[in-house]
Order: sequence, then C-alpha cells, then structure tokens
Amino acid sequence: SIDTQNMWSFLEAFPKQWEEARAQTEEIEFTIDADRVRTICFVGMGGSAIGADLIRAYCYDSCPYPIQMLRHYELPRWVDEHTLIIGCSYSGNTEETLTAVDRARARGAQAMAVTSGGALMLKAAKEGFDYIKIPGGLTPRAALGYNFVPLFRICQYLDIINEDEAEALEETNQLLAEQNGLLANSEDNEALSLAEKLDDTLPIVYSDSTMLEPVNLRWREQFEENAKTLAYGNTLPEMTHNEIVGWERIVHLTGRLSVIMLVDREDNERVKQRMKIVEELIKDQTASLHLFETRGKSRLARMFSLIQLADWTSFYLAILNSTDPTPVAKIDLLKRKLA
Ligand code: PA5
Repeated sequence: SIDTQNMWSFLEAFPKQWEEARAQTEEIEFTIDADRVRTICFVGMGGSAIGADLIRAYCYDSCPYPIQMLRHYELPRWVDEHTLIIGCSYSGNTEETLTAVDRARARGAQAMAVTSGGALMLKAAKEGFDYIKIPGGLTPRAALGYNFVPLFRICQYLDIINEDEAEALEETNQLLAEQNGLLANSEDNEALSLAEKLDDTLPIVYSDSTMLEPVNLRWREQFEENAKTLAYGNTLPEMTHNEIVGWERIVHLTGRLSVIMLVDREDNERVKQRMKIVEELIKDQTASLHLFETRGKSRLARMFSLIQLADWTSFYLAILNSTDPTPVAKIDLLKRKLA
C-alpha cells in the first residue's frame, strides 16, 4: 500500500493555501529601495525555484529592466549594487541559493528572501534585509502558493506588473477552486484520464518559450518528483529549428512517447502555426498527443490553470505507478552525500 494522502491533501487544499497567502501578504511592507533597482535576479532550486521562474515569465513583457532566474551558485557578471537578488528556498538551507545571495550582497546588491526558516531566514534577520516567512511543514513543490504569492507582491511593490492584472490573484483563486472541484473528483476527470494515457510512456511537453516556459517545466518536474517518471520537454520556436529533425530516427520508440502541447491565446501567432505543423509531423509516432489550452481571463489565472492540471495529472500517474508522490528519496540521498 502507498501513502497518497499527504500529496492528496496538499492538492486539495491548494486554493485555500493561495487564499491564505493572498490575505497574509495584502498589507506587507518592504524596505527595498525600488528606485535603485535596475535588474532583478531570482535564485532558487527545484520546488522553490518554480514560483520565481513563473513570476519571471509572467513579467517578461511588463518589467522594464532585465529579470533573470538563477539556479546556481555562480552569478552573472552584471550583478551589482543596482541588482535586487531574491533568494527563494523553502527550507532556507539550500547551498546554491545561500551562496548566490551572499555573493550578490558582497557586490552591494539589495537582497530579500522568501523562506520558511533555516539559514536564509537567520541570515536575513542578522544582516537586516527583508524576508517573508512562509508556513513550514510542507514539501517545497506543494507550497507553490506560499512561494509564489509573496513574489507577486514584491513585483507589485516594484511596479513591474501590468495594470490590467490588478485583480489577477483573486481571479486565479476562483479558478483554482473551480478546477479543483473537477480534478479531485474521480468521475469525468481530465487529469486522471490523461494520466491513464501517459502510463508507461515518456511524456514530452512542448510550449511557446515566453510565459508558458516555466509552466512546461512544472509539468516535467511534477512527473519526475511526484510520479517518479522521467519527462522531457522543449519550447518553440527553437525546437522547430533542430529537435523536430530528431523525430526522424526514433522509429524504435514509436508508441512509447506521449506529447503534451500547452498553448495560450497570447502565444506568438507564428509560434501557433509552428505548433500546428509540429503536431502534424509527429502525431503518427506518438502513443498519444494532447493539446491543452490555458483557461481564465488574467495571464496569471491562465498560467495556473495548466499548473493545476499538471499537479493533479502527476499525482494520478503516481498512483497508477504504485508510487507515493510525496517523498523524493534520491534528492534527500544526494543532499546527505554532499553534506
Ligand atoms: O522538491 C524538492 O524537494 C526539491 O526540488 C527542493 O525544492 C530543492 O532541493 C530545494 O530545496 P528548498 O526548496 O528547501 O530550497
């Protein structure tokens, strides 16, 4: 028997988590000097990085200065006193994140942190930079609402979010609650029937490379961490300049690859056409091909509509694989070996 209860409860409570994070951060105050900020650098790994990567992609065309996601110890040369480095670590103890924050501060960057505690929180408290303490006790990827919403608030404070997204947090909350009712229900369930089609295949996720890039990544990471299933993905237009040719010599894998295409109405028009052609070119070689369009009005709600589908699909795939979705034994082992 496998313990699915833990992840099930996180997924079921996700809209509540979002609402809690929204309410708790409504009046939040920051001491960052917004006028000094000329670049933003988010740093984080794995389940703690995805929230930052989502906000980076969400702001890709509204932020007037460069905004980068970093998943490493090393900093780009341009990080300086005009940079705001935002360390995201659920445990607060991830070495890559701590190192990058230290190095950026040594170059005079302003810093802030989103964490449930650990060394990152101690550092912020001791060195006097802003931090948002989020509730602990969850697995990092299940705490996406707690991780993401504070980052949205920081971006609102920095005035880099489109004005027409002012109600986006509320709309997303509503959409998450509605979708959850359907996805947690075992009858007529889109995520469950998708998981059944993906079972015993390698899922490949394709999308545009702008706002859907981290959504695409979330799908793969959730397949890997929840369902313990290797997943692959790429983005357009780049894959139409190389990877599409690679499909020519995989005849031996025909019927073993499932493709998931993620699309949004804001995708570039030429990318939309490219996606359709890719679909025609590869569909005969796939075990199944699925196209999902974002739902909702605001960009934020649309991004999270597909995140939620990924989270539930990977959960059901874990059950079909007879795997407990919550533990990540190999990550824990690796961290112990490095200690
Ligand atoms: O999902 C996980 O457990 C991992 O991907 C972690 O998020 C990752 O190892 C980083 O740890 P933390 O989120 O505590 O910074």
